[in-house]
Amino acid sequence: MRTEKVQIFDTTLRDGEQVPGCKLNTDQKLIIAERLDTLGVDIIEAGFPVSSPGDFRSVVEISKLVKNASVCGLTRANHNDIDVAAEALKFAKRPRIHTGIGTSDSHIRYKFNSTPEKIIERAVEAVKYAKSYVEDIEFYAEDAGRTDNAYLARVCEAVIKAGATVLNIPDTTGYCLPEEYGAKIKYLKEHVKNIDRVVLSCHCHNDLGLATANSIAGVQNGARQIECTINGIGERAGNTALEEVVMILKQHPYLNLTTGINTKLLYSTSQLVQQKMGIAVQPNKSVVGENAFAHSSGIHQDGVIKNRETYEIMNPEDVGVSHSSIVLTARSGRAALAYRAKNLGYHLTKDELDILYPEFLNWADINKEVNDEGIHQLMENCKVNFSKLQHH
Ligand code: KIV
Ligand code: ZN
Repeated sequence: MRTEKVQIFDTTLRDGEQVPGCKLNTDQKLIIAERLDTLGVDIIEAGFPVSSPGDFRSVVEISKLVKNASVCGLTRANHNDIDVAAEALKFAKRPRIHTGIGTSDSHIRYKFNSTPEKIIERAVEAVKYAKSYVEDIEFYAEDAGRTDNAYLARVCEAVIKAGATVLNIPDTTGYCLPEEYGAKIKYLKEHVKNIDRVVLSCHCHNDLGLATANSIAGVQNGARQIECTINGIGERAGNTALEEVVMILKQHPYLNLTTGINTKLLYSTSQLVQQKMGIAVQPNKSVVGENAFAHSSGIHQDGVIKNRETYEIMNPEDVGVSHSSIVLTARSGRAALAYRAKNLGYHLTKDELDILYPEFLNWADINKEVNDEGIHQLMENCKVNFSKLQHH
């Protein structure tokens, strides 16, 4: 079976930057945009140009800077937003306008006080107008996750006819189950006329912790673009994490789906975004968290020391982490203690380890974690008892 490429659409600088406290200035955005381009993302959503003069400036400067990726600007479905986005994107080598409107019953009724037919008219008008500026038009059906599939299919068919090149199917509220989201993509593939002229895109939020699972269900059912952010940063509980979907596709080659991401840059990119946005990821964060390749229980440590693959399904070097780590705590066993001591140059005999280990446990119960300095200190404390061994 032929391997197909999934486009990676990064929205760290738009959906990610909407997070309170994550606001970036233009210089910070440029540093991240340059790194995303090097990382190999296909599309960088640089901002929402009409939202503020600062965001407009950032989109202009990112458009000038980015060499490989398409640069995208978000708009609502109105002429002014689209005029401003087109102006901000005018220096981009590959500009994309991302326009759209809410399609669920609650958006139509409460947000727009409108009707399903009028929403389709506005969607078509926005796509046609954006198309008068640039060729590449992505349309988002906001709250598609809670939109009736038959109506969503009608919206999709109308905007394809109007010139859309990509159809974004956002689970805006993070409500869908993976099976349901996958079935929605499949339904659109099967019911929308000319669907093979466009790329279907997954844009999933993480309110129930399902953003990554939903995006994967989407591509398993025919979507070929995933919208995501570094570290899964984003509105409320966040967006799909780029590092997670990329590594899922890499670690499951039988899915026959690949990305253009240089995975060895994932860890350093995550660090860069944490530093610039001032938001640290939790230590147990998949792929890029501090503990993602750290082993602390004795049973796991013993396995990993014998063979890394007993408890690791990814090679840390593949994501830019130099090695797995064996963390010494009161739950660690002798194998881990001997391994860490050996790394510091202490080649312990079984008898020496028998002396050292109880001392280590007492120390670990008090200090939570035993670092290199602690091991040196323990070795020093046990010196007298080690020398007694030699006299026997
Ligand atoms: O979550 C969402 O629906 C969005 C759209 C604006 C694409 O971010
Ligand atoms: Zn979103």
